[in-house]
Amino acid sequence: MDQGIEKTFVTRQEIESTVARLGQEITQYYSQQQDLNLLVIGLLRGSFVFMADLIRQIKLPMAVDFMTVSSYRDATVSTGNVKVVMDLDEPVEGKDILMVEDIIDTGNTFNKVIGLIRYRKPRSLKICTFLSKPSRRQVEVPIDFCGIEIPDEFVCGYGLDYAQKYRNLPYIGILKQDD
Ligand code: IMP
Ligand code: MG
Repeated sequence: MDQGIEKTFVTRQEIESTVARLGQEITQYYSQQQDLNLLVIGLLRGSFVFMADLIRQIKLPMAVDFMTVSSYRDATVSTGNVKVVMDLDEPVEGKDILMVEDIIDTGNTFNKVIGLIRYRKPRSLKICTFLSKPSRRQVEVPIDFCGIEIPDEFVCGYGLDYAQKYRNLPYIGILKQDD
C-alpha cells in the first residue's frame, strides 16, 4: 500500500470498467443529437486524469477545454465559496456542453459552475462525474452520467488530492487517519 493510504476504495480495474461504461452511455446519448457541437469541459485540477481517460471512450468528434475554480483549500471540508481562477478559452454559446468533474460532494462547487455556464447560453448542458457522495449533498446537482456513488469518506487518487498530494495514484484510496 502507498504511504499515507489506509486501503483501496476503487481498484484500477473498477476505474477502467466504470470509465468504459460512462463512455458508452455518453456516446450513445449524443449519437442521437443532430448537428452535434460537443465541447467537453473539465474542472481542474481534480478531473484531469478522469477526463483524459473518459474522452478516449467517447467515440464522437469533440473539443475540450478546462476551467479552474477554487473550492477546497487544502482541507477536507467545503467552504461553499467558489472563485473562477482560470476561465475557458472556448465560447460556450450554442454548443453541447458536457461538464466533467472528479467528485460531487456537497454540490456547492458544481452548482455555481453550472450557473456560470448556463449564463453563456449553451444549446445543451450535461453533467458527468466520476464519484458522487449523495449523503453529503447541500444543493441539488442534476447528474446525467454518474460513475460510482460512495459513502461519506474522504478519498484520494486518480486525480483527487489531499493537500495537493496523491493525485497520481492509479486507484482511489482512503487516507490513514492521524491520531
Ligand atoms: P463540493 O463543492 O463539496 O461538491 O466539492 C467538490 C470538490 O471538492 C471536488 O471537485 C473535489 O476537488 C473536492 N472533494 C470533495 N470530496 C473530496 C474527496 O473525498 N477527496 C478529494 N477531494 C474532494
Ligand atoms: Mg475538483
